[in-house]
Amino acid sequence: MKSKKTQVCIIGSGPAGLLLSQLLHNEGISSIIIDRQSRERIEARVRAGVLEWGSVEALDEAGIGARMHKEGIPHAGFDLAFNGDKHRIDIKGHTGKDVMIYGQTELTIDLIAKRLEQGCEIIFSADDVQPIDVKSSSPKVRYSRGGESYEIECDHIAGCDGFHGVARSAIPDAVMKTFERVYPFGWLGLLVEKPPVSEELIYANHERGFALSSMRSETRSRYYIQCSLNDKVEDWSDQRFWDEFSLRMGPEIASNLKTGASFEKSIAPLRSFVAEPMRYGNLYLAGDAAHIVPPTGAKGLNLAIADVRILSRALVEHYKKNNNDYLERYSEICLKRVWKVERFSWFMSMMLHQFPDMSAFEKRMQRAEFDHIVGSETASRSVAENYVGLPLEM
Ligand code: FAD
Ligand code: DHB
Repeated sequence: MKSKKTQVCIIGSGPAGLLLSQLLHNEGISSIIIDRQSRERIEARVRAGVLEWGSVEALDEAGIGARMHKEGIPHAGFDLAFNGDKHRIDIKGHTGKDVMIYGQTELTIDLIAKRLEQGCEIIFSADDVQPIDVKSSSPKVRYSRGGESYEIECDHIAGCDGFHGVARSAIPDAVMKTFERVYPFGWLGLLVEKPPVSEELIYANHERGFALSSMRSETRSRYYIQCSLNDKVEDWSDQRFWDEFSLRMGPEIASNLKTGASFEKSIAPLRSFVAEPMRYGNLYLAGDAAHIVPPTGAKGLNLAIADVRILSRALVEHYKKNNNDYLERYSEICLKRVWKVERFSWFMSMMLHQFPDMSAFEKRMQRAEFDHIVGSETASRSVAENYVGLPLEM
């Protein structure tokens, strides 16, 4: 078995793992990143599109914000719609900040390029990745690649390997508590090379189901509709999608819709999930490895960024000041914020989707929730505060 050494071994080359590596590098702390996928696969994944202002600042701090500022689009608000009625959430007016439209795909491309340019070792297409001895002061990560076995010795392991990764399973069942809610529908999303139907995002509850209008640029739109978990992408021709999306957005918005051939179409399930604790010995979970939110509040990527900001600061305190307090409190600090973001994502999902077994009372409750936000400056501000991003308390 060939061996290597680093200070922090990072499992997962998604936004959490890559940004953590960048933040550590900027403070002179070494890391190696291991991912089971190829670079091409990682850079082709289409996912999130909205960055909280705190995430924008984090990327600037990390020194990788240049292309985001050039190509991203700041948004000062978004619309909530309910069976044709619309209400604008004035994010800027309520919070003084914007959110930034910039694709996770682009962010990942930027981070991989920068990390490789600075000489970071990123091991793509690794098999059998396994964290071991995580309770000891010299934990290791083993993996194989091209028929050879490797072991990385390190001080700390960051489990940034997403919901289906291996890191979480290194925490024994007796220690780990998990909390989960699975929603009885999915999101069908597509990308099309056409200008968006509206300048800002629209989250719409319609009696036929939820619909979301988003974008990647002024010429590229990202649209979603709630679909059945039994649906297959092949069931949804582009035409069927446009017809359904138009119905749910209503005639006024649909009259601006520019349709075309989609170049990406996929179905994602919706889930709320939290694993506690996020630290076990010298293993730290961050991002989707520790928690999942349904996408309705655009929070998953932002939560991953918040975790690694906290983890990087805690590691800097450890290496630079010999102070372990923040590492010891890592789980507690993250989870306090994680649960608030879980709440907001759950709240938005509950208000905006059609649930298969919904009672007439529950439908009225959804409408009342919307009407309350429309009628109350305080309720609108609360939505804006959560959407633009809660502060990092550490
Ligand atoms: P991931 O991006 O999942 O990265 C994990 C990495 O670990 C991957 O590269 C994977 O290959 C690797 N890995 C997995 N298993 C192993 C293993 N065994 N060994 C080694 N490596 C492994 N969030 C938002 O904030 N805003 C949005 O607008 C938004 N929209 C979304 C829309 C959709 C359709 C989806 C699906 C998600 C959306 N999200 C959104 C959520 C967001 O994409 C995720 O929360 C984010 O990717 C989490 O980043 P991560 O680095 O923690 O995990
Ligand atoms: C996008 C995804 C989301 O989940 C969301 O809430 C807003 C935008 C997007 O992919 O653009």
